[in-house]
Amino acid sequence: MNERHSIVRSVGAYLPARILTNDELAKMVDTSDEWIVQRTGIRQRHIAAEGENTSDLAAAAGRKALENAGVGIEDIDLIIVATTTPDMTFPATATLVQQKLGMHHGAAFDLQAVCSGFVFAVATADSYLKNNLARRVLVIGAETFSRILDWTDRTTCVLFGDGAGAVVMELGKEGPPERGVLASSLRSDGRHWNKLYTDGGPSSTRSMGLVRMEGKEVFKHAVGMITDVVHNVLDAAGYGIDDLDWFVPHQANKRIIDGAGVKLGIPPEKVVVTVDRHANTSAASVPLALSTAVADGRIKRGDLVMIEAMGGGFTWGASLIRW
Ligand code: ACO
Repeated sequence: MNERHSIVRSVGAYLPARILTNDELAKMVDTSDEWIVQRTGIRQRHIAAEGENTSDLAAAAGRKALENAGVGIEDIDLIIVATTTPDMTFPATATLVQQKLGMHHGAAFDLQAVCSGFVFAVATADSYLKNNLARRVLVIGAETFSRILDWTDRTTCVLFGDGAGAVVMELGKEGPPERGVLASSLRSDGRHWNKLYTDGGPSSTRSMGLVRMEGKEVFKHAVGMITDVVHNVLDAAGYGIDDLDWFVPHQANKRIIDGAGVKLGIPPEKVVVTVDRHANTSAASVPLALSTAVADGRIKRGDLVMIEAMGGGFTWGASLIRW
């Protein structure tokens, strides 16, 4: 088969300097380190500084990915930023990132699929590349989720953090698919919109709203949805669970990650977990986890990597990548 695949050439990440621990949170709301660790696996999260916006985090992660790819911004012709926390209602945060990186050609747009945003963006970039709509794409997941949290609501404020991750994607050589995105599966079902949402927005309230969530409902659906798309992707690519080298799930909650791992039959040593240090960074969580596992030498060239995410909407999806 001579179909060309879009390869992931590099990954980069950025985390704000400020770390907020569970013990500090316990001074703000009625919670404890023990409760948070036991129910979620989260020990700390990073919080963006005053004046540090999503586009700043995104640009920093993007710069790192470009550096790791050994390419310049002139070599990029499309920027996709997956985010739920844009700097402004408009213009797209991606255009602000474009400006910050000094790119005046090509195109840039935002993609909104909440926590699934990065997986949706990888699949979108893959399609753009295969259809000759772009040559090399900077795909970024970036969030300042701390800005849309109700810091008096202990059921949500303990779960999230800020951060950004990015990958450079480009079309690989013609020939057998030695590297690249082998298959993707994207899903959504708007019947579940009111289980995880913000209680406002430009059109409905002329404000941005804050995160509201029915945690138990999210939990109930998460594992089944995740395992469904992972199986779809494996079937489409002609691989089985045992072929996977690494499972890089969305980092929402250690219990959801463990539940999905057990249901899929993936041994814990193949699962990349960063939720303990980053909490749930929404669209940034998968590229942050990828970056961590590439930087510490776990994910290597040629490894078979499954990324997946699930979030508000609900949206959910997975991609299989030969690294
Ligand atoms: N600290 C202490 N107590 C708390 C806290 C807290 N931070 N939050 C809730 N509680 C209390 C509740 O008030 C409740 O008290 P009560 O029994 O007196 O009423 C008790 O703890 C149990 O609450 P539950 O909601 O039943 O706790 P549960 O075991 O379901 O855990 C959690 C809550 C962690 C949110 C869980 O439902 C969950 O992980 N859901 C998935 C949600 C998620 O990960 N969302 C992220 C976004 S979606 C995504 O990215 C996939």
